[in-house]
Formats: sequence, structure tokens, C-alpha cells
Amino acid sequence: MTVVWITGGGSGIGRALALAYAQSSCEVVVSGRRMEALLETQRLGGANIHPLRCDVTKNNDLQQAIEWIEENFRRLDVVIANAGYAQSGLLENLSMANWKRQMEVNLFGLVATVQYSLPLLEQSGGQVVLMSSVMAYVRFPKSGAYAASKAAVTAFGETLQLELHHSAVDCTIVHPGFIESEIGQIDANGQYNPTLKDKRPSKLMWKADDAANVMKRAIDKRKSHVTITGHGKIGEWFARHAPRLLLWIQSRFMV
Ligand SMILES: NC(=O)c1ccc[n+]([C@@H]2O[C@H](COP(=O)([O-])OP(=O)(O)OC[C@H]3O[C@@H](n4cnc5c(N)ncnc54)[C@H](OP(=O)(O)O)[C@@H]3O)[C@@H](O)[C@H]2O)c1
Repeated sequence: MTVVWITGGGSGIGRALALAYAQSSCEVVVSGRRMEALLETQRLGGANIHPLRCDVTKNNDLQQAIEWIEENFRRLDVVIANAGYAQSGLLENLSMANWKRQMEVNLFGLVATVQYSLPLLEQSGGQVVLMSSVMAYVRFPKSGAYAASKAAVTAFGETLQLELHHSAVDCTIVHPGFIESEIGQIDANGQYNPTLKDKRPSKLMWKADDAANVMKRAIDKRKSHVTITGHGKIGEWFARHAPRLLLWIQSRFMV
């Protein structure tokens, strides 16, 4: 039996990953704040999907989630720290409350998820998966807080890879480009609002199921890094190898 825990499993990438793992006969625990979204993932994926209410910013919720997994399955093979949202706004206008909320969910929530999971993963020789973003490398105006949170996720993950080097646990860092999900309809307080319009370029967007299949293959191979979408790979390459050229192109054509 393989047990997978996916935070933010009630929509988007998390849901698509949950369905992919359930299809491979894994037991999949999906967590998030909205139970109705998690139940929908269960309806789509069947009895192998186990919804659990858990806000990653609350230590009590995380503690209860890991206890539930231990009681019910006695093991955990893969944790996918996926819960997150994108705070948008010009850096000069973003309030400290917005900054803190972004970091509390995307970074501290992810770190805490990993810390609670590691004891069980060490027993199973399992795997940590961290949902970063191409924006860990590539900058866009009005995305500074989100980019900073994802750059920190990548730094955390790459340090964890070193620290886990002599253990049986591996860590895969995922850098998605634009993937269909609810992320463009999350308000400044981190809540889903279906009336908001997703402003991301639809032509560049991948289907969440396609992205999840590529991610799952990389996770199965225990790769250290995976970047999803062609545009994401190009952006990441320029950001890492020709950052000044990328800045010049972006400031000429995007700002
Ligand atoms: N889609 C993209 O283009 C893209 C690109 C790069 C990276 N990513 C990353 O991929 C991850 C998944 O995002 P997505 O695009 O699939 O967006 P999404 O559909 O909005 O999914 C995000 C999930 O996170 C959960 N979540 C948010 N805050 C939470 C909290 N405090 N505690 C627990 N769960 C929380 C949400 O569920 P509840 O509201 O029910 O809590 C939601 O199910 C995020 O980390 C995002 O930054 C996405």
C-alpha cells in the first residue's frame, strides 16, 4: 500500500495529482480548508481518496492530519506540500498583512507540513514533494510577494535535499508554469472567489491533468527538480543563465 498526502487537494493541481495517484491504486489523503471541494475530489476519484479538513497555517490541524494518517494507514510514503495562493499587487502598495499571509501559507505552511510528515517518511523511506513555481526564478510586475515565497520554497527544498542526502527520504521540487486551476480566482485574503477573472494567458495554460501526469512521472523517478510547461522551461533557462538579457527583454516588452 502506498499512502500519499496532498495539501490543497480540493482543486487545481492538487486535485489532478490526487486523481492520478488514486488511479495508480494509492491511498490518497487530500486536505484543505473547504470540505466541499475535497468531497468533490473524492467524488471524482473514488474510495481511495480521503478528504481531511486542514489549514496549513494551523499547527493543530497539521498535527491532527498526521495523527489521522498514522492511525488509519500506519504509514506515509509521499507528502505533496502543494497548498498555496498568489498574492498580487505592486510592491509599494502591498500591506504587511498581505505579505505575512503570503509567507504563512506558501512558505511556513509548507515547511510545517514537511516537519510533521518527516518522522513517518523516514520510516517508509518516502518522499517530500514541494510545489514551487517557475516564478521562483522568473519575475513579473505585481507578483513580487508570490515570487519571493516560491524562491524561498525552492531554497528550502534544495537545502532539504542536502540534509536528507544520507537518509532514505528524497525531495522533489516542482516548478510549474501556467496550469489551469483556481489560482487566478483567489482574492487578496487567500479565499476562492469564482467571480474573479483569471488574467493569466490562456494560450500558454496547460490542463491540470496533463501537468499532474508529468509531475507524477518525475516524482515516481525521485527526480530532484521538475519544471512543467515549455514556456516555463524557457523562462527558467533565461532566468538562470542569462538574467540580464531576460530583464532587458521583459522591461522592453512587458512593462
Ligand atoms: N496553476 C499554476 O499556474 C501554478 C503555477 C506555479 C505554481 N503553482 C502552485 O501550485 C500550487 C497549487 O495551486 P493551484 O494552481 O492548483 O491553485 P488552486 O486551484 O487555487 O489550489 C490551491 C489549493 O490550496 C489550498 N489552500 C490555500 N490556502 C490554504 C491553507 N491555508 N491551508 C490549506 N490549504 C490551502 C486551496 O484549498 P482551500 O481553499 O480549500 O483551502 C486550494 O485547493 C500552489 O502552491 C501554487 O502556488 C501553480
